[in-house]
Amino acid sequence: NPPLLIDNLGRCLTYLRLAITDRCNLRCRYCMPPEGASFLRHDQILSYEELDRLTSIFVSLGISKIRITGGEPFARKDCVTFMSRIKEKQPGLDLRITTNGVAVQPHLAKLKTIGIGGINLSLDTLDSVRFREITRVGRLDSVLTTFHETIRLGIPLKINSVVQPDTSDAEIMQIAALAQYHPIDVRFIEPMPFSGSTQAFTTLDTCLEERIKRLFPARRKASSIGIETASKFTVAGYRGTIGLIEGESRKFCGSCNKVRVTPAGMMKNCLYDEGVLDLRELLRSNMTDQEIADNIRQTVSCKMEDGYQAAAKRHAEHHYSMASIGG
Ligand code: GTP
Ligand code: 5AD
Ligand code: SF4
Repeated sequence: NPPLLIDNLGRCLTYLRLAITDRCNLRCRYCMPPEGASFLRHDQILSYEELDRLTSIFVSLGISKIRITGGEPFARKDCVTFMSRIKEKQPGLDLRITTNGVAVQPHLAKLKTIGIGGINLSLDTLDSVRFREITRVGRLDSVLTTFHETIRLGIPLKINSVVQPDTSDAEIMQIAALAQYHPIDVRFIEPMPFSGSTQAFTTLDTCLEERIKRLFPARRKASSIGIETASKFTVAGYRGTIGLIEGESRKFCGSCNKVRVTPAGMMKNCLYDEGVLDLRELLRSNMTDQEIADNIRQTVSCKMEDGYQAAAKRHAEHHYSMASIGG
């Protein structure tokens, strides 16, 4: 399908981030308080039938890449069946997943069979004591099993690593070494503030970009296929790439090609808006697919009125966690 979602800045939106649950089996300290978030009720999140319908509508509008996120997508029962169904209906769709990897290993063979386009795996440290400290739950061993099994099956893999105020250079280099030995993309992420996180973010000693420059003096810019959130570079002797996601300083907004849908079915034009279209309400009304598609088309043409800074501030104050807005 040709791209039909064109925003008021003339950008073709072809990438949907679809959050299917706000629940998670971890409690990362930059994401949630220790007791976890106040999760949505079952009837507040979109059902699989609603999600099936919605994905078809988005594909008819030219969406060619869908990333399934959460919370933790595998914390929702039957998510693999849901993904197989999407791929069966839309074989050409680039279907991907962002996951913490804790409960994924049993599903990997099936994901390979259905033709999953890639997995983005969150992994902030390789030290199991630190991992427990950050996630408050632990299970680094399960994440590492997912890591190795994904590579063995030849599923394209990216690592998301949030660089925190107490992340050491040695820790960064250990994570980076994963790209030295494996043909994967390792991406270091600037932490973003949320109201539910229990970690102070604002003053990282040096900005992440400076730190990465210092640690990899001999890096070269890597080419990207299509639009990517990360700026990537190669390092001599590495099989994969190293990347930087400057989410907080918003270096990539200009080329954003994403639409987001939260677990409750709220569509967002930007990570930092408050929700621009209540798709759950439309899906539960008697609207036709065409009418819903028209609503979506009209909605992407409304840019945020605020500057990003004000919107980002409001966002940090009002949003509990990344899990509730779709990672
Ligand atoms: P690719 O499709 O592989 O480029 O993945 P992605 O970076 O779009 O998604 P992923 O789920 O791996 O997210 C990685 C990090 O980028 C997370 O910390 C996201 O919250 C952040 N991120 C992704 N999209 C946006 C965005 O539009 N704005 C901001 N501020 N952060 C984003
Ligand atoms: N800042 C930056 N990244 C975050 N993630 C979760 N919370 C935050 C935050 N506050 C990351 C996760 C995951 C990705 C979807 O978002 O580590 O890799
Ligand atoms: Fe779960 Fe991801 Fe939030 Fe960690 S950051 S608690 S893995 S949703």
